[in-house]
Amino acid sequence: MIETLPGFRQFYPEDCAARNYLFSIWRRVAVSFGFQEIDGPQLEPLELFTEKSGEEIVGQLFNFTDKGERNVSLRPELTPRVAVMAGSKANALRKPVKWFSLGEMFRYEKPQKGRLRSFYQLNVDLFGEENCSADAEVMGLCISILKSFGLTDKDVVLRLSDRTLWLHCLNGWGLDEASALRCLTVIDKVERVERSELVKQLDGIMTGKGDWLLESAEGLLKIKSLSELDGFVAKHFSGTEHAAVLAARIEEWRYLLKSFEDMGLSDFVQVDFSIVRGLAYYTGFVFEVFDRAGESRALAGGGRYNHLVRKMGGPDLPAVGFGMGDVTLRNLLEEKGLMATFADTLDCYVIYNGEESRTEALCDIMRLRELGFSVDYPLKGGNFGKLFKTANQRGARFVLIYGPDELEKNVVKVKEMLAGREQELHREHFIEMMAQLIRG
Ligand code: HAM
Repeated sequence: MIETLPGFRQFYPEDCAARNYLFSIWRRVAVSFGFQEIDGPQLEPLELFTEKSGEEIVGQLFNFTDKGERNVSLRPELTPRVAVMAGSKANALRKPVKWFSLGEMFRYEKPQKGRLRSFYQLNVDLFGEENCSADAEVMGLCISILKSFGLTDKDVVLRLSDRTLWLHCLNGWGLDEASALRCLTVIDKVERVERSELVKQLDGIMTGKGDWLLESAEGLLKIKSLSELDGFVAKHFSGTEHAAVLAARIEEWRYLLKSFEDMGLSDFVQVDFSIVRGLAYYTGFVFEVFDRAGESRALAGGGRYNHLVRKMGGPDLPAVGFGMGDVTLRNLLEEKGLMATFADTLDCYVIYNGEESRTEALCDIMRLRELGFSVDYPLKGGNFGKLFKTANQRGARFVLIYGPDELEKNVVKVKEMLAGREQELHREHFIEMMAQLIRG
């Protein structure tokens, strides 16, 4: 048998049910926050991603030349497309624009626990509001979704960081913007790469000062609270020309953290400057969500990206958003015993005996199905004992029996499986009565 490609999945009924369960919560909570659903194409012009997504994703593209000699790629993420969609109708759209989307993404990554080559992602994006109340709304939604799955602040944590503050600090330490951005890509690796290697890379950015730069950065990386941040900024920058912009930024931090308090979500949020995000377009607050045990890859990640819409050819339109994948989320829910179980269920299972009964049964089956009930029956009939067993396995609430005796009396015998109750319903009003029984 031909296997799937590495990192791609087949979805058996229980997997589809699990996926639909994730989708239903994603959709329900996003709608409850006033977001509207959108989608884009799965196959895109290659340049949509090569220009704007950043090195890491570009190295993971599933790209090829199509039969019309176009360079195309399966989408690794939705953000550049959403930025184009928002930008091209920006004037007509009511602000803030609140959009979400559920869809399949493709990245040529090394398949491993929590990371595949095809996965589903919820994308949430808010356009047209610069104030960090928008960041609070988006992160609030991210946490609320996880809460709706039954996860608590003991299970997951949103690690909150800030590229703006990083850039102000790096600037204060003597780096111009381009060098500061390069420096952030090094800091992004702090948890994975040896210190000596980091120093070497930073030396390449600020000759001979790699060690000093890393030490200064480590001060910021250690910070876990707003008061520590206050202290850090006072120590490094008070009396300098950078003090004012940093003080203004800390006020935005204060406002954002207060919003989490007001939403009752503070315990989910941890200040953590080690998050800088690999994607090139982020400009301000950035975040990732992890399980508290810190064992798996990120459950979600996002942040502010105020310049992407303009870079895609649209007007100036501030934006903030996040993506949440299905793979790590399902793993975590299973580990915590929070994944709902998805048994096969039916409203009715119909059993019959002989051709004449089959004719009567089929007629009723079709009418019940038209009313929207789930009804199934053995295609080839069979032994009543065995068929009752099947009805049980299928989770049928009612078994409808069409035997010769019932035919003779013009009734259907209805057995309510859970209560073990049996009754005969006359065929004349059978469908109406059965519908009432099912609806309870
Ligand atoms: P990202 O951090 O690349 O952000 O992905 C977001 C989430 O998608 C991850 O936290 C993870 O749950 C899931 N994910 C990513 N790659 C894989 C993979 N190979 N296998 C399984 N799951 C994966 C973005 O994609 C941004 N576009 C999010 C965003 C939206 N930012 C603003 N708006």
